[in-house]
Parts: sequence; structure tokens; C-alpha cells
Amino acid sequence: MSLHPNTQAVRIQTPRTNEMEHSTPLFLTSSFCFDNSEEMRAAFAEENDSNIYSRFSNPTVQEFIDKMCALEGAEAGFATASGMSAIFGVFMAFLSSGDHLLSCKSVFGSTHTIITKYLQRWKIDYSYADIKHPETWESLIRPNTKMIYVETPTNPGLDIVDMEWLGALARKHNIILLVDNCFATPVLQKPIDYGADLVLHSATKWLDGQGRVLGGVVVGKKELIRDLYLFCRNTGPSISPFNAWVLSKSLETLDVRIQRHCDNAEALVKALEGHPKLNSIKYPFHPSHPMYEIAKKQMTRGGGLVTFDLKGGVEAGKKFMDALQMLSLTSNLGDTRSIASHPPSTTHSKLSREEQESVSITPGLIRISVGLEHASDIIADIMQALDKC
Ligand SMILES: Cc1ncc(COP(=O)(O)O)c(C=O)c1O
Repeated sequence: MSLHPNTQAVRIQTPRTNEMEHSTPLFLTSSFCFDNSEEMRAAFAEENDSNIYSRFSNPTVQEFIDKMCALEGAEAGFATASGMSAIFGVFMAFLSSGDHLLSCKSVFGSTHTIITKYLQRWKIDYSYADIKHPETWESLIRPNTKMIYVETPTNPGLDIVDMEWLGALARKHNIILLVDNCFATPVLQKPIDYGADLVLHSATKWLDGQGRVLGGVVVGKKELIRDLYLFCRNTGPSISPFNAWVLSKSLETLDVRIQRHCDNAEALVKALEGHPKLNSIKYPFHPSHPMYEIAKKQMTRGGGLVTFDLKGGVEAGKKFMDALQMLSLTSNLGDTRSIASHPPSTTHSKLSREEQESVSITPGLIRISVGLEHASDIIADIMQALDKC
């Protein structure tokens, strides 16, 4: 019987133990036993797929990976301790000295640091491509370009890359296409359908969805995941089985949670339309979004993140944040609890004004991660804070 991916996210489970538990068990163990030396030899020789050590594999971790593969339509996967260890692990597994990485310029801050600061140590070069000018990307590809890396929608600019176009470009030049699908989740878009070879997530965000654990996951083509596995098995960025257990349980409710996040985000966008304190609102499924048509083509809904630009700039941004009564001021996103952030005075304060502008960050930019509280309460808190700035 072939099951819908949402059903698989609920029903995939490690084989039931003799205790006949209904909810999935947690294998919180560093290593696994063998009945005799021959079994142990065969496991190390990879003649079977027995678990050896939780840095290599673990049944609870595998359950989380299997669910993510079902949701993303992927052949295989590997789970890591955080989103950043997933990103660094993929770069290290596939890029060698002398290689070139083509990345979209709007990437998460720590990813930017890895690309611009640490990859240089291994003589791995990069070019940044402007998401607003796709016509310039092909000219940035070099004979040694090994990988194309993009986030879509981007953090925090909510810009969108046309994955159908990018998938064709990567195929034409035989380059690995890696997509950070953290903001959309597989509920809203499946990059593999558009030609991505690898898809990764900060599972810390919407996949957990309740602000509890750090985690990361990479899924994609079997032969590429095998190389990533061999690199990670030796270098050790593996996820804790406990965190994988939490994340596996979270995936059972991913679809319903994301649908409600989208409902609340849409209600917020509607309430903010035409507000006199705002220059603009940005939401992938709002017709004013510059990449609205692309978002509609590749996403099923607009997601749980909404940004707006306050007319009063940086000062208004700080006042808005201080006036909030319910929304949390915290540097996470994708939680049941709504979260506000002001990127120009916090996460992106080290960028120059020009650099901020080029990744769609204006002085008055506020990012709202719309939670699962009743929409009327989220809207009321934001409206009263807008009155005060
Ligand atoms: C798009 C994106 N990718 C990667 C990361 C890093 O993930 P983690 O914090 O789990 O290491 C983040 C964190 O905010 C993110 O927003």
C-alpha cells in the first residue's frame, strides 16, 4: 500500500519492540551490541546494516531521516546536530581545495561566515549571485564550480529563487544543486521536484516547531548522501538520538501546524495592508511581492514568516520591539509562539547599509515568525505596538 507523505510522517516507525509500545521508542544509546565476533566483523565490513555506534547510525535517528525522505521525496538522508553542522558537513564533504561555490548572496548569517571566512582556509573560492538578477548567474559559473547553494525563501529578506530555472542551470553545467528548505519546509515546497540534488534543513525551526531542540538534516541522492555519511561518520556532527526522537514526533504534526501558521500569517498580512506606519509588507503569497509569480509556481502556500518595513527606520524598529506585549523577542523562528525580530539592529547589524540593501534588509525591517496563538491576539499585539512607534 503506497502511503501519502503526510501519512508516512505519522506512521513511519522503528520496528515495535517486545514491549508492544504504541508511541515510538527512544534508543538513547551510544553503541550497539553483537552476539559474537563474526557479527561484529560483518557489521564493520558493512556486510549488513547493523547499527554499530550512534555517531554512525541509530534507529531513532533513522526514523527521523526516513520521515524527512518521505516528505521531501528523497532517496536517502543524514541527520546532524544543527542546521549549521548540516551546511558545514555538506560543504566539507563535497568541496575540495581549488573548487568554486556559487551561492545566492542572501544566506543565513553563519552560512555567510562559513562561505566568506572559513572556506578560504581550504582554498575553496566562492561567488555571490544576486537573487534579483538571475540573468547574471550563468556568467558566474566557472569550470571549477562544484556546487550551487541557495535558500528560498531567504532569511530574512523573503526573496524567492526560481527553482525550475535553477535546476535546469545546474543540470546544464553538471553542478550539485543544494537547497536550504528551512523557511518553506516540505509541506510548502519540494526542491527535489525541481532538480535539487540535496536539500537541507535547520530542523531547529519549523520541523521541531516548538522551540525545543537543535537539529539538522540533509536528504537527496543516495550516492551523494553516502559520501556525506562517510564524512560525518568520521568527523562527528551527528544528531543526538534524543533530539531525533523529539523531531520525529514533531513531524507527525508538521502539515497541520504549517497550515495553521499560514492561516495566521495570511490573517496578519490582511490586517497590516495599508497601515499608515508601514512603507511595505512582504509575504511570498502577497501580490505585491516582487517574486509573487515564482512563489505561486513552486510553493503551495506563503509560509509562516511575514516582514514589514516601518516608515520610521531603525528607531521605529526598536520602539516597535519594545512596545510588544505578547510576541517574544528571541533569535529563533518557526515556533508555536509568535516571534518578532529587527534584523538591522541585531542579526545583520554588522553589514553595511549597502550590504543590507542588497539582501532586502531596510532600516525599519521587522520579521514576524507567526505562531499558533489565536490570530486575533497576534494581530492585536502588533497593532498596539505599531501605534506606539
Ligand atoms: C535558513 C537557515 N539555515 C540554517 C540555519 C542554521 O540552523 P541552526 O541554528 O539549527 O544551526 C538557520 C538558523 O536560523 C536558518 O534560518
